[in-house]
Amino acid sequence: MSNKVEIMEWYIQAGVDICLEDKPIDRFAQSLEEKSSQKDTRKEQPLSQQKEKTPLNRRSSGTGGQERVVPMKSGVTVPDKASVDTAVEIAAQTNTLEELRTAIAAFEGCNLKRTAKSTVFADGNPDAKIMLIGEAPGRDEDMQGLPFVGRAGQLLDRMLAAIELDRNKVYISNIIPWRPPGNRTPTPQETEICRPFIERHIELIQPEIIVLLGGSSAKTLLRTSDGIMRLRGKWSEVSTKHAAVRAMPTLHPAYLLRQPAHKRLSWQDLLQIKQVLDTAN
Ligand code: URA
Repeated sequence: MSNKVEIMEWYIQAGVDICLEDKPIDRFAQSLEEKSSQKDTRKEQPLSQQKEKTPLNRRSSGTGGQERVVPMKSGVTVPDKASVDTAVEIAAQTNTLEELRTAIAAFEGCNLKRTAKSTVFADGNPDAKIMLIGEAPGRDEDMQGLPFVGRAGQLLDRMLAAIELDRNKVYISNIIPWRPPGNRTPTPQETEICRPFIERHIELIQPEIIVLLGGSSAKTLLRTSDGIMRLRGKWSEVSTKHAAVRAMPTLHPAYLLRQPAHKRLSWQDLLQIKQVLDTAN
């Protein structure tokens, strides 16, 4: 095997499975530049100011509220409680979907944004009665900037069609708006940082029904550690600061692609959703 192939395979295993730019970006050089410019600025500052950091650069040490700065080796700061607080504040200030979209796109408190090409906000009809929420964009979604456009998305479209719905009749988003590298599972910290945005999103859409696609979405928004097999098929409630919405957790279409025999379970869930929508009409 040639060295090139080995290197490519090594990249793929590390989650680098897509080219985002025409030319490579040397992140190591960038982080060295950042470090040396930080040193230069600090040299120019009086000692008393040298410890000052912006809130996003602080990390809780877990020792009685004192905070400690923990930059990652690459120079990227680990997201923390301060990022969650900032997200809560920013999300609360938005009054329209466009404001929310702009606020998320400008938010720098989640490391996932650094490796993603797009901020994947939503697709579908903002006036829909039904809002579907997945986990996070995958590779195709990151490329196109829209949720559920890859293989799982195509299956989702077929599932919707089975109960006479399509993207003009539903609204679709994700808990996390940035693709985790290599489609890894988002960390609990990343999820908590993004939670204020999806909760505000729900408040702005005001759906009658939420469909939670997969365990990650269901656990996050129902604030439970129960698995999707226990949660699915039972009506529950998503509560945000200003809203409480009826919610149906169901199996994620990506899971159904791997376990097609479980499509019958998701069909049962879809029928329940259809029944509630028909009754509401
Ligand atoms: N899986 C998700 O959870 N969301 C998407 O947008 C695509 C795949």
